[in-house]
Amino acid sequence: MESTPHAPSSPRSFHAILVTGGAGFIGSHVIRRLLQTHAELKVVNLDALTYAGNLANLADVESDPRYTFVKGDIRDAELVGSLFDTHRFDAVLHLAAESHVDRSIAYPLAFLETNILGTATLLNVAKQAWTERGCMDEALFYHVSTDEVYGSLGDEGLFSETTPYDPRSPYSASKASSDHVVRAYHHTYGLPVVISNCSNNYGSHQFPEKLIPLMIRNIVDQRPLPIYGEGINVRDWLWVEDHAAAIDAILTQGWVGDTYNIGGLNEWRNIDLVHKLIEIVDAHLGRAEGHSKSLITFVKDRAGHDMRYAIDASHLESRLGWTPSVTFEEGLTHTVEWYLNNQAWMEEVTSGDYQQYYEAHYANRG
Ligand SMILES: NC(=O)c1ccc[n+]([C@@H]2O[C@H](COP(=O)([O-])OP(=O)(O)OC[C@H]3O[C@@H](n4cnc5c(N)ncnc54)[C@H](O)[C@@H]3O)[C@@H](O)[C@H]2O)c1
Repeated sequence: MESTPHAPSSPRSFHAILVTGGAGFIGSHVIRRLLQTHAELKVVNLDALTYAGNLANLADVESDPRYTFVKGDIRDAELVGSLFDTHRFDAVLHLAAESHVDRSIAYPLAFLETNILGTATLLNVAKQAWTERGCMDEALFYHVSTDEVYGSLGDEGLFSETTPYDPRSPYSASKASSDHVVRAYHHTYGLPVVISNCSNNYGSHQFPEKLIPLMIRNIVDQRPLPIYGEGINVRDWLWVEDHAAAIDAILTQGWVGDTYNIGGLNEWRNIDLVHKLIEIVDAHLGRAEGHSKSLITFVKDRAGHDMRYAIDASHLESRLGWTPSVTFEEGLTHTVEWYLNNQAWMEEVTSGDYQQYYEAHYANRG
């Protein structure tokens, strides 16, 4: 079977794409971008609408005739198979996942089931459908993954595509497993795959359990700003729309069998990032400089908290010409303004429905 990465003969153009997890944070940005940049593409969004998925994220595209939403679970092979029969996908862009590290520490099995078994289910259905149709050469299975599969860095160095996997949390272990299964389908069955591993994303429509929207919300509401340990853990931050642009480039030009690291060369210690957010939010609300600093509250560190992530994205840049389009200052200011202007969204996604989902989905799970 083909196992050496190889370039497409020309940029790919697909007829119909199955996007999983499109109602989530990154998926909604990616769907919006695909509809903007691919005039003829039909986009089917399969999403279980967990607490993290919200159709309000895609309100502006729901009436586009090229777009279809299907509520369902990626582990449901019968449903996925029937979608392949109906829409005759020639591409899968797989983003659906349980994505929050803290939640994976509390409920690991939910993560292993969706992230590993869900990915395997999609791979298997795609393999069968594309084998039966004899269209493996024109098809692509794109798996969206995380830099957390590489583990934790010390003060120096960057993750590259050849860094050995060393996941530490149930979340990163489940994503690492799914990456391996994707590669296994490529090497064993010749499934045309591509994988990208991205650093931390920030931007609009992110569920406020993640650091940046959580801090913005709490600064606005003048609630405590909980920071793990001493706040010295370092993350590399990338604007979600730059991630969507990278995904689009990899989808159309990525080499089959290849892996691309995506990052912003933009490292911040958590404590410094929170200070930056205080500065921007307080300024936007007309408060005195430093007004919200006293809200910072150091809390017990996360179990197994990775110290530093940093990405070398030079492979993506040299092979496909992608670079981030905004500075962190620009992206962060844009992001803060979006949350300040969309406080109703924030309230809606954390409302009673979210609480009910949370109880029903995770209760009694190990
Ligand atoms: N957010 C980041 O910083 C980041 C960084 C690198 C990689 N990633 C990866 O990108 C992808 C998207 O991340 P995100 O931040 O948008 O996540 P998210 O939690 O915002 O969205 C995940 C989406 O998947 C859906 N989903 C969950 N389980 C499902 C299931 N069993 N069947 C169908 N749909 C299901 C949810 O309803 C939700 O809409 C994930 O695979 C994640 O691992 C995220």
